[in-house]
Amino acid sequence: MTQHKAQRLSDTSAGIDTAARVLADGGLVAFPTETVYGLGADARNGRAVADVFAAKGRPGFNPLIVHVDSLSAAQKYGTFSDQMLQLAQAFWPGPLTLVVPLAPGHGLSPLVTAGLNSVGLRVPTHPLAQHLLAAFDGPIAAPSANPSGRISPTTADHVLAGLGDKIDAVLDGGACTVGLESTIVGGTPPALLRHGGIAREGIEALIAGPLAAAGKGISAPGQLPSHYAPQARVRLNATRAQDGELLLGFGAMDCDLNLSPAGDLKEAAANLFDHLHRLDAQAKPIAVAPIPEQGLGRAINDRLKRAAAPR
Ligand code: TXA
Ligand code: MG
Repeated sequence: MTQHKAQRLSDTSAGIDTAARVLADGGLVAFPTETVYGLGADARNGRAVADVFAAKGRPGFNPLIVHVDSLSAAQKYGTFSDQMLQLAQAFWPGPLTLVVPLAPGHGLSPLVTAGLNSVGLRVPTHPLAQHLLAAFDGPIAAPSANPSGRISPTTADHVLAGLGDKIDAVLDGGACTVGLESTIVGGTPPALLRHGGIAREGIEALIAGPLAAAGKGISAPGQLPSHYAPQARVRLNATRAQDGELLLGFGAMDCDLNLSPAGDLKEAAANLFDHLHRLDAQAKPIAVAPIPEQGLGRAINDRLKRAAAPR
C-alpha cells in the first residue's frame, strides 16, 4: 500500500491519462461520479482490490460495486434477466446499481464480490468517470472514497481529508451533483437493497409494481446500523438546537446550515454529506430538522438514521 500523499489530478486529458495509468499499474485513484467520489482500483487485480479494503478499513466480506462504461461492458461481468435489462436501459448511465449473477468467465477478482456469486454493476453518468472508464478500458471496482463507516465524500477535498495518505491520486471533478450513493436493486423478483440517488417511486413506476423488501442474506456496510457517521453526536427530527448543538435545517427556518431553504429534496440530497462534513469540522453535536419521507427523502433519512445510530 502506498503511504505517500495523494496527487490531485485535474479534469484534463493529462489528468485522466495519469489516473488510467495509475489504475493499470495496480494503484488506487479516487474519482468523481454523480453520486459520491469512488475509490477506484482495477476490478481484475486482486492485490489492488485488497488495497482498497485496507485503505478504507473496510470489512473484507462486503462486496464492491464494479463500474463500467456501458450496458454491453456490464454484460461481460453479469448475467441480466429481462427485468434487470429493462432497469439498466431505463436508468443507465445513472445512480442505479444492479446486483446480478456473475457471468461465466467474468475475470473479476473474487475479493470484489466478497466470494458471492453475484456482482453489483453500475454505469455512472459523470463525464469524468466516463472518460476515466474509456481511458482505462476495463472494470473499475469502487466503494465510496471514505474511511469505512464515516461520512461519504462529495468533493476531492473530502477524499483527501479522509484518505489522502492512503491512496495514490484523486481526480478532481468538483462537487457531486446527486450527493447520495446509488440506489441498489437486486434479486428475483427485484428487491430494493439500498435507498439512493434514484427514488424508489421511479423504479416502481417502470416495473409497474412494488419492489420487494431486501432479504436476510445480504450484508452490506451501507446497511449496518451505524454508518455515514460524523465524529459528533447526531440528533434527528429537531425543530431547534439545544445545549450547544449546531442545527442542520430543511425548509425555511433559523439554522446553522440549511440542506435546502426552499425545501427541495434534490438540493438537500446534493448538500447532505458536504453539510455534515462542514458541521462536523466544528466539533459540536449536530441536530437535524425533519425531512419528508418521500422520493429522495427516504434515502436522506436512511443516511441520517445511520449517522445518528449508537456507535
Ligand atoms: O453511488 C455509489 O454506489 C458509490 C459510487 C462510488 O458508485 N459507491 C458506493 O459503494 O456507494 P459502497 O461500497 O460504499 O457501497 C456499495 C454497496 C455496499 O452496501 C455493498 O455491500 C453493496 O453495494 N454490494 C455490492 N455488490 C453486492 C452484491 N454482489 N450483493 C449485495 N450487495 C452488494
Ligand atoms: Mg460507502
